Amino acid sequence: MKLRAPIWGLTILGLLICLSHPAIVEIKALGVILNGPGMMLMGSLFGYSFARTVLGRVICWLVTLLLLEPVFRWASLGRKPGRRAVLAGGAAAVGGLALGAYGATVERRRYVLEKFDLLLPDLPPELEGIRVVLMSDWHCGPVCRPDDLRPAIRMANACSPDLILVPGDFISRSGEYFHEAAELASQLRPRLPQGTLISWGNHDYWHGLENGLKEMPRAGCQILRNSSLLLTPKREFAESGDKGLWLCGLDDLWAGKPDFAGTLSGLSDCPRLVMSHNPDLAEEQFGSRVDLMVSGHTHGGQIWVPTLGTPVLPSRYGQKYASGWVEAPHYPVYVSRGVGTSSLPIRLGVPPEVTLFVLRRGPRGLLRA
Ligand SMILES: [Fe+2]
Repeated sequence: MKLRAPIWGLTILGLLICLSHPAIVEIKALGVILNGPGMMLMGSLFGYSFARTVLGRVICWLVTLLLLEPVFRWASLGRKPGRRAVLAGGAAAVGGLALGAYGATVERRRYVLEKFDLLLPDLPPELEGIRVVLMSDWHCGPVCRPDDLRPAIRMANACSPDLILVPGDFISRSGEYFHEAAELASQLRPRLPQGTLISWGNHDYWHGLENGLKEMPRAGCQILRNSSLLLTPKREFAESGDKGLWLCGLDDLWAGKPDFAGTLSGLSDCPRLVMSHNPDLAEEQFGSRVDLMVSGHTHGGQIWVPTLGTPVLPSRYGQKYASGWVEAPHYPVYVSRGVGTSSLPIRLGVPPEVTLFVLRRGPRGLLRA
């Protein structure tokens, strides 16, 4: 196979990116230059985000190379490209790089507060007006640094939340980053004591859950791992009771052992908010009352392309669980776009999200506040 200069250039860039992390991306500017535009241009379209090892990423790049070589060959029609083609190619490359740089440096940190009234049937009048913040997928790691995430913590605290729910993916790449996640979690200020409730995501399992089990409770978080707490009308947590709001956490679908029936079937018949990192679980486990499942995991796809939607979405159900309110077969799910990024350190058209639900009594539904 005859490879042309642009292909070699992209190959070298790709290999540099493959070999660069996680150490080199610690150098922020270099991380943006290498990981940002390079990954967006090639890796995202060909499975980079699913590769978790250097070897996997090298294979992704080689496959990309094989796929692109005929395109380049066809585009040049075997002739030396003319001046116009060179200018057009250069403009496209500069445009792509600029877009990638914007996504990596600006939009990735452009937190949006989504505010809703959440209507729940049977909500005790004493719990009307409870404020619940949802902020999933922090992905503390070499890309999402504490200073990147602090504005999201401040945004959550500014909501004066009674409760804060974090359904997993605190870290990326190494369990050591739980130290940073715990430091951020300790800055959360829910009005209820011990009011930060968390469950685990796939990245928490993949990179060192044992660190999370130690660090996060020290930061004041209560872990719900196939377990539940009742928020009583007196706004206190209890393990049982027949009046209040159940707050439940299921284990991760990909890396843990979610036990829907074991967690929910024995609970009293009160409204239930259920955390599940992965929204796909709503298609696979059901059979007990759920008023709303809150999830993350898909990050809204991180990159939205006109007409295509979000090309990379880690879900078995296409675009269905990209973000927002989704009617699953048996109960509704709210999917947060999350606050961090994973694999691709870029967001384009899919800004990070902190969500505020103000709970109201009424027929089940979500109203934008
Ligand atoms: Fe995630």
